[in-house]
Order: sequence, then structure tokens, then C-alpha cells
Amino acid sequence: ITFGPVQRPQPWWVGRRERLLEMAGAGTPRYVYDLATVRERARGLLASDAVDRCFFAIKANPHPAILHAVTTEGFGLECVSRGELDHVFGVLPELSPQRVLFTPSFAPRGEYEHAFDRGVAVTIDNLEALQRWPELFRGRTVWLRLDLGRGEGHHEKVKTGGAAAKFGLPLAKFDAFLALARSLDVRISGLHAHLGSGIDDPLHWREVYANLAGLADAVGTVETIDIGGGLGVPYTPDAQHFDLVAWRNGLDEIKAAYPRYGLVIEPGRYLVAESGVLLLSATQVVEKDGIVRVGANAGMNALMRPAVYEAWHGIHNLSRLDDADTAAFDVVGPICETGDVLGRNRLLPTATAEGDILLVADAGAYGMVMANTYNLRALPAEDIIE
Ligand code: LLP
Repeated sequence: ITFGPVQRPQPWWVGRRERLLEMAGAGTPRYVYDLATVRERARGLLASDAVDRCFFAIKANPHPAILHAVTTEGFGLECVSRGELDHVFGVLPELSPQRVLFTPSFAPRGEYEHAFDRGVAVTIDNLEALQRWPELFRGRTVWLRLDLGRGEGHHEKVKTGGAAAKFGLPLAKFDAFLALARSLDVRISGLHAHLGSGIDDPLHWREVYANLAGLADAVGTVETIDIGGGLGVPYTPDAQHFDLVAWRNGLDEIKAAYPRYGLVIEPGRYLVAESGVLLLSATQVVEKDGIVRVGANAGMNALMRPAVYEAWHGIHNLSRLDDADTAAFDVVGPICETGDVLGRNRLLPTATAEGDILLVADAGAYGMVMANTYNLRALPAEDIIE
């Protein structure tokens, strides 16, 4: 019997090295997504049998092939804007609106109207919307997003609960919301909470579920409880994979006490983060004041996560994958910002040089979709491995 951390399997891209180098030959920066990995994650969640329905938060990666893959596996889709709704129904015209959620934040009135017209489940998350637009909501069925008073996640900027966050109806206004909803004949069929992104503790959702189920009884019309997304993925080498068994066991405890509610999750990152790599080309290797930097032809313009959240992504020299990683580099982009650093003090082969293809790992979530054209640099290309 061996104890200690479970050995993580090799990432998919190690065995796809030649194919990736070929793709990089067509130009970098380039995101490449492995659909088998997306399917594997989707199947893992569904097979865990922890929840009744799963929705993919398309904000993490709305690539059409990924939307096809996850909906084929049985996922619905969660959208936060009219743009995302139009994209989803453009890519999947046959998709039933019952498989789509609309969970916007501070959206203009017209986007709610559009979502109701489409027949998707609409979530509101404040009292003022009902007060200001009573005719928009009168007689409708909605889901209500609550702020449970606390946030979680891999960084302050992705915590979506508590007074500092803009999301959700605070519990102090719950009764007022119910009263106004009743007077407008608004039926609350779902309760929702999403406390943040990149949460590694599998028991987090058990607590959210318990909180919402307790409140659902007071509403009386609730059918569905949506405990949000936020399932973490292992970015660093020593991180563990999300514990689906502990997650399921935690949820089962609550489900036993509240069997009448359908349970829903809406993960984004979990399905796509590990499926994606960002391929870059090394531009220059420069030493300054004892730090050796390798430049890449894209940085925070292609992948904002390190600059915005100090996020850690593995970085590898795909052109010299068989060489030992023997020298420390800071990996920087070409953007005129000091924060344009993809990784500090990373071990790469000493021979790393101009023209080498650098691979940024686990970049399939919140990568391409947050890329921008700052400094008038081109957006990355995208490729799929079926
Ligand atoms: N549901 C709601 C209401 C959300 O706001 C989000 C993410 C999700 C679900 C999906 O969360 P996930 O399962 O992907 O953690 N750009 C940041 C993450 C921002 C997440 C925004 N909301 C990052 O790169 O870490």
C-alpha cells in the first residue's frame, strides 16, 4: 500500500508534441483544445451522479466545438449576456431553451426581455430590478441569485459573494424581494448562488446547498437549486485533482434532507482548463541584473490570468521537451507593461532560444475569451484536436 498524493496522469499534450509543433508552424500565438479532455471532464461530472443537471458556463470557453462536445455529453449551457445567448443559439440552433440559463450581472433591461423571449431560465439578483421594471417581470417565472454573505475562490478578484462583490441579493433583502415578487405574480422557481471561481474544497458546495435548501422552503415555489460553478483545477505540479467523491458525498447528505429540489451546477473552468494549451514562439533571451528573461510573441494580451490574478500556469519548451529543465527564466510577453509576465523563475532548458515553441499549460479556461488586442497585437488563433 502506498500513501501520499495520487500520481497525476501525464497531460494530454505530452503525447501530442509533434502535432502541436506542426500546428505552431502555421503561426503563433495559438490556442489548441483537446476535445477528448473536455469530454472526459464532462463525463466525470455526470458519472459522479452528484447533481441532477449540469450547465457549462460558456464564459470560460465558448468555442463552437466545445459547445458541441459538452452539449452532446448532456450538459446545458449557462450564459451571462445577450452576446452569449445569441452565440449559443447560433452555434446550436436545435438546442432546447430549457437547456440554457441566463445569469447576467447588471445587464440592461433589453437583455432580460430578449432572454424571456428566447424562453431560457432567467436569474435576477437584486430587488431594484423588480422595483424599476415591474412590467418586465410581472407574471414571469424567474430564478433568484442570493449573496450568502461570503465569497470563495483562487483570488480576491474572483470572489463573488459578500459586501465587496456586486453579485446577488443580500439575505437582508430576501423577505422584501419575496413580498414584491408575490405582489407582481412573479414565481421564483429556482434559487441560485455562486460564491466564486477556482474553489478546491469539495465541501464548499455542500454548504451552499444547505444554505439554499433552507431558504427554498420559505419561498414555497422553488423546484431547482443551483449551487453555482467554481470547481477548481490543479494548475501547479503539486496540486491535487478535484475530489469528486468527497464532493458527491457532501451533496448527498443535504439531498437526503431536501429530496424535493432538483440540484444544478454550472461549472466552466473544470471542463475546459486542462484541455487547452497556448502555443507561443520565443522571441529573445535577455539577461538583466541577474534575471534571464525569455520573451514570447504574446503575453498578457493572449492570456491575462497571470497579470490579473497572479495565476500560475505551467510553461514548457515544446521544441526541447526531451532536454532537462536546467535554467531559470522569467517568461515575459511583448506588451509594454511591467506586469506582462507569464511566469517567474521557471525552469526551462538552458539552450532555450529564439524560435522555440513555448507551451503554456492549462489555458483552456478564461484564456482566448479574455484575450485582447492591446498594443495592436493580433489575437491568437484557435485549433481543435478531435
Ligand atoms: N456561474 C457564475 C454565475 C459565474 O459567474 C461563473 C464564473 C461560473 C458559473 C463559472 O465559474 P467556474 O466554474 O469557471 O469557476 N476569469 C477568472 C474567472 C472568472 C469567473 C467568472 N464567473 C479566471 O480566469 O480565474
